[in-house]
Amino acid sequence: MEKVLLTGGAGFIGSHTLVELLARGYEVAVVDNLCNSCEEAMRRVREISERDFAFYKADIRDRAAMDRIFTENKFDWVIHFAGLKAVGESCKKPLEYYDNNIGGTIVLLETMRAHGVKNIVFSSSATVYGTPEKLPLTEDCRTGGTTNPYGTTKYYLEGILTDLAKAEGDWNVVLLRYFNPVGAHASGRIGEDPKGIPNNLMPYVAQVASGKLKKINVFGNDYPTKDGTGVRDYIHVVDLALGHVAAIEKCREKGVHVYNLGTGVGYSVLDMIHAFEKACGKKLPYEICPRRDGDIAACYANSDKAAKELGWRARFGIEEMCRDQWNWQSKNPNGYNE
Ligand code: NAD
Ligand code: UFG
Repeated sequence: MEKVLLTGGAGFIGSHTLVELLARGYEVAVVDNLCNSCEEAMRRVREISERDFAFYKADIRDRAAMDRIFTENKFDWVIHFAGLKAVGESCKKPLEYYDNNIGGTIVLLETMRAHGVKNIVFSSSATVYGTPEKLPLTEDCRTGGTTNPYGTTKYYLEGILTDLAKAEGDWNVVLLRYFNPVGAHASGRIGEDPKGIPNNLMPYVAQVASGKLKKINVFGNDYPTKDGTGVRDYIHVVDLALGHVAAIEKCREKGVHVYNLGTGVGYSVLDMIHAFEKACGKKLPYEICPRRDGDIAACYANSDKAAKELGWRARFGIEEMCRDQWNWQSKNPNGYNE
């Protein structure tokens, strides 16, 4: 069976992908510096999957540590999740974001090349489309025009990986553009555990439902959308995880492969709040607030390319997303800090 290194594998999307890879018999190892996660997630993945794997607590910018990891293991693939992802923070700390996300990826790629590992799946984002030129977004839509340093790191990294594959013909690069991942594993044992007050809508809504936060701030109700609130393509994190498995199984040709991973359905902020109310059985207080800087009105995917070429489609809908997010939140009100 092939062996896969997950950078950032202790994080939200990485830990769910780990479960799906282990369930399919892949050999895996994780490298994570735990700057936005904790090792308890790894213990729980072992418990869910009843399998063991190597965990390396290291920074991907640490060349010596990366070299050691690649010397100790013969990897076939790297799935590269590691990165900083807070949009607001990236505007305040651009150098830290460029250093971590771009510097880290360069060290990773140099280590991969030195060890003859040339298959990589990269966590990109719908953010690379900037303000969408059309909806739903297809992979050939214009990219760039990102509105914050975080988004710009994703845009630049897509460019760096594409240049590399062009210059050296033996690389196999898969760029997965995620839309808005939400939900959690059905067991309620792993999920998203944001530090401090959540930036993203669904963890915020979940914490209002559990009583940790008082009310939801709805950022704007004057967008040109059906109810005036922002529209996004929310995707269950387990569907997203399965998209990575499909990518590894189907992308066997050298070159660059780009896929949107979304459901193709756009829901508004109010749709999500109301769906969550059904899942948790409570009315959730919210207040209409000014728009948040840098937000766009609407963003949703056309994921037909992934369906056709990877045989992958999102299976879970808004009800399962809210059900599983609430299951995780209510069983782990303080995340991994029991
Ligand atoms: P996350 O923060 O939960 O996971 C990222 C992991 O990377 C964390 O465990 C963190 O500790 C680790 N990490 C960060 N810098 C590192 C470094 N230098 N060395 C080693 N480990 C490091 O985030 P996530 O939501 O699981 O996102 C995974 C990837 O997907 C990220 O690259 C993110 O930018 C991208 N993405 C996320 C979303 C989203 O909404 N969650 C959307 C699009 C793209
Ligand atoms: N929103 C609120 N209140 C909140 C938080 C968000 O009304 O407290 C609204 C936003 O205005 C937006 C929607 O809810 O309309 C979704 O916002 P999120 O912050 O959950 O997600 P974004 O679409 O802004 O960004 C996410 C990730 C980015 C990624 C992008 C595209 O955070 O990393 O999706 O994939 F780049």
